[in-house]
Amino acid sequence: MRKNIVAGNWKMNNNLQEGLNLAKELQQALAGKTVNCDVVICTPFIHLASIAKEITTVGLGAQNCADKVSGAYTGEVSAAMIASTGAQYVIIGHSERRAYYGETNAILKEKVLLALANHLTPIFCIGEVLAEREAGKQNKVVETQIRESLFHLSAKDFGKIVLAYEPVWAIGTGVTATSDQAQEMHAFIRKTIAEKYGSAVAGETSILYGGSCNASNAKELFANPDVDGGLIGGASLSVDKFMPIVEAF
Ligand code: 13P
Repeated sequence: MRKNIVAGNWKMNNNLQEGLNLAKELQQALAGKTVNCDVVICTPFIHLASIAKEITTVGLGAQNCADKVSGAYTGEVSAAMIASTGAQYVIIGHSERRAYYGETNAILKEKVLLALANHLTPIFCIGEVLAEREAGKQNKVVETQIRESLFHLSAKDFGKIVLAYEPVWAIGTGVTATSDQAQEMHAFIRKTIAEKYGSAVAGETSILYGGSCNASNAKELFANPDVDGGLIGGASLSVDKFMPIVEAF
């Protein structure tokens, strides 16, 4: 059966010392507890190697990787470098990367291939902007994002992907998708996967929800049959806010 996952996306927050403290605090909060999901934190690159040494029960990921293997790409960090820190995950295609750094579906396709080649689990983000939802185009937009960046993969490799539906209008706005809106989109995503790879692969794919997910709405969102967890921004920056989301399963 597919995994439930609650992943924190720290974005560009916390210096190294603050990040280390937060990771240790989270690990302590989880100690001796049985939770019904995998817990992951996705930190800035510079935190990865240090945090990898401190955490054992929490998964670790980066928030981006280069679309090139190695070489003269000043400022970039490759999937191989991320894997060498001990991290197991990488967020790819976050809407902030798409919007502010010009990452296209074609570029993201390369990133996914490199992540998989380096045995990292991509947490691949998809989602529509407000104007697209208002025009009723959200399904088409999300389907295109999936098709153009992921549908070249074999069924075996697609099975290694975690998806995160993050409606852009819900990210950092305090406006969450309703439980019905989330379930409707997640069911559509699963159907789209099933049409390409079959229902077994679709049934094994974890599809997370992201966008103003917090302690007060996580339970209702995660209760949906096709919502397999969350990708959490703001509320992942403190253990007090993050733990109730982890415990919402
Ligand atoms: P918020 O939880 O702050 O809305 O951010 C969601 C997000 O972008 C996670 O990747």
